Amino acid sequence: MTKVLIATEKPFAPVAVDGIRKIVEGAGFELVLLEKYTERQQLLDAVKDVDAIIVRSDKIQADVFEAAKNLKIVVRAGAGYDNVDLEAATKHNVCVMNTPGQNSNAVAELAFALMLAMVRNHFNGKSGSELKGKKLGIQGFGHIGRCLAKIAQGFGMEVYYNKRHRLDAAEEKELGLTYCSQEDLFKQCDIVSLNTPKTAETVKSINGKYVKMMPKGGLIVNTARKEIIDEECFLAALKERTDVRYATDIAPDMHEEYQKELQDRYLATAKKMGAQTAEANINAGLAAANQIVGFIKDGCETFRVN
Ligand code: 3PG
Repeated sequence: MTKVLIATEKPFAPVAVDGIRKIVEGAGFELVLLEKYTERQQLLDAVKDVDAIIVRSDKIQADVFEAAKNLKIVVRAGAGYDNVDLEAATKHNVCVMNTPGQNSNAVAELAFALMLAMVRNHFNGKSGSELKGKKLGIQGFGHIGRCLAKIAQGFGMEVYYNKRHRLDAAEEKELGLTYCSQEDLFKQCDIVSLNTPKTAETVKSINGKYVKMMPKGGLIVNTARKEIIDEECFLAALKERTDVRYATDIAPDMHEEYQKELQDRYLATAKKMGAQTAEANINAGLAAANQIVGFIKDGCETFRVN
C-alpha cells in the first residue's frame, strides 16, 4: 500500500493533520506521522519504506533520499523549498513540489504584527507612531507581497515594491503599487518588509549599506529567511544608525548579540511562526496531500520545482 509520511519537526495544527489523513486515506493510501522529532536518525528510520513525504522546514537532504528507497515525491507544505536538496532528489528520481500561496496570508499578518509591535514600542505604554500615511516597501513581490500590499492599503499606507521581474503597468495601477529599485526602496520607505526566497542570489544580499540608507526611524521586517541578511555588517550598521530598528521572524545566528546591542530596537519571535496558524496549516497541508494523490494516481506534476 502507498505510504505517506508527515515529517514535521514543527507540527501542523491537529485539525490540518485530520484533513490530510482524510485525503490520504480517502485515496486508499496509508498515513504515518513523525512529529517533533529531535534526532536525524528518527527521520531516517521513518522514511525507510514510504512513497511520499510531506514536510515543512525539515531538512530533506541526500541522507534522506538514500534511506528512502521507495520515495517518489516530497512536498514542502509551504513556499520556500531551500530546505530540500533538489539535486539529490533529482538524482534519486524523486519529484519535489511546494504549495505556493497557501500560507502567505499568515506570514503577511505576522509581518504586520511585528510592525505594530515595533511602532508601538512593544506595547510598553510609551507613545509610538501609526502605520497610516507611512511608506511600506516590499522587497520580493510574490504571494506574500500581494497579501502585504492589501493589508498595508487597509492601514492607509503607501505601497512600494521591488521584484526581479517588474509587474506590467496595468497591474501596478490596479494594485496601487509604485515600483522602485532595491536601493530606492530602502531610501524612500519608512518600513521595508523582506519577502524574497533564499537563493544563491539573495543570500547575504541585505547588508549594512541598506540600513544606512533608511530614513530616520526606519524599520526593517524580515519574514523571509535569516540567510538573506549579512548578519555581521547589518548589526554594525544598526549600531551606527541608532534610530533604525529590526524585527524578524527568524532569529539571526547572532541573536544574543543583536539583543544585547539593540535592545528594544530589535525583536525576534521565539521560533519561526509566520505560517504557524491553523488556517495556513490546513491550506498548505491539504494542498500537499492533494498534490501527492494527484502525482501518484495521475502523474500530475503541477508545482514541481525540480
Ligand atoms: C514557507 O516557506 O512556507 C514559510 O517560511 C513557512 O515555513 P514553516 O512551514 O517552517 O513554518
